[in-house]
Amino acid sequence: MKYVKPSALKPGMISLKSIFDKRGVCLLAANHELTAGIIKQLQIMDFPGLYIYDEYAEYEDLREILDEKTRMDAVNALQTMNIDRVMYLSTEITESLLGVDELVIDFKDLKFYHNDTFAHSVNVAMLATTCGIGLGLNNYDLQELCTSAMLHDIGKRGINKDILDKPGKLTPEERAIINQHPAIGYNMMYDNPVVTSRTRMGILLHHENWDGTGYPRGIKEDHIPLYARIIHVADVYDALCQKRAYKDDYDPKECVEYLMANCGSMFDTRIVENFIHYLTIYPVGTDVMLSTGQKARVLKNRAKTVLRPVVMLEDKTVLDLAKDRDTYNITIVGYDQVFIEGENLTEP
Ligand SMILES: [Fe+2]
Repeated sequence: MKYVKPSALKPGMISLKSIFDKRGVCLLAANHELTAGIIKQLQIMDFPGLYIYDEYAEYEDLREILDEKTRMDAVNALQTMNIDRVMYLSTEITESLLGVDELVIDFKDLKFYHNDTFAHSVNVAMLATTCGIGLGLNNYDLQELCTSAMLHDIGKRGINKDILDKPGKLTPEERAIINQHPAIGYNMMYDNPVVTSRTRMGILLHHENWDGTGYPRGIKEDHIPLYARIIHVADVYDALCQKRAYKDDYDPKECVEYLMANCGSMFDTRIVENFIHYLTIYPVGTDVMLSTGQKARVLKNRAKTVLRPVVMLEDKTVLDLAKDRDTYNITIVGYDQVFIEGENLTEP
């Protein structure tokens, strides 16, 4: 499986996932061949890229931790401000994540869509809830955290789209307007009887930093409620991943390193240390170089052993770097990310 940008797509390639337009209309179902027409449409839509099957796909762990229908339902509920539905889907997402064996979030589980606040919000909900599971929160708290994460940027509805979508650098005045979105979101949910106060505080305080340099209150450390501290980490992580999908700036390892580098300043160290157990360093589909000099493809990741995935050598031998006793001395010394332009891709 490789992630291929529209400029490198070719008719006959097979998409791993269903493709939807911004209105949620399915353009192509998963496991179907791309046609020249679909590729042209994706290029016109400025679609970021697609996961495409290659010769390793049959061996790779391609399970999704959240099905596309639930994801689309959640995006629609946020778009239509159907808060009851958001809460219902928070329960579904939480149960779905609790039901996954080997819970780990791969890049392929995060939807990439340029400037789509609601798709981002669902990613953040998945990430924050996964972090909450790692921290041992009970089911009620996980659902409440998931709701808060889904709604964390709801206040952006109250910000002028010209400012939100402005390409390039914001002026200080524009930045100040955008920074109002947590308070706007809090106020939007204030009179909603089904939204709890802890959910609202997650919305209001998700841009507070551990060292007190965040906004809107500038509070610090444990004065920042737990949900807000978790959502802050999940929000920044997804933003870095999105940046990687579009601008070739951060790879998965660098996204995790950014979180670690900002422990104690932006983030609560305890939360980051827990969170990174569930984030892939070498996502499924990454080509790696082993310390033995052999090339291999990453097939599967497991929580808490993300530096030592299951890999397949070029002769199709499978090595489980976390569990096989005779692989203890083997390390990953280089990697070529799953994100490629597609020139070297073996066509299906
Ligand atoms: Fe935000």
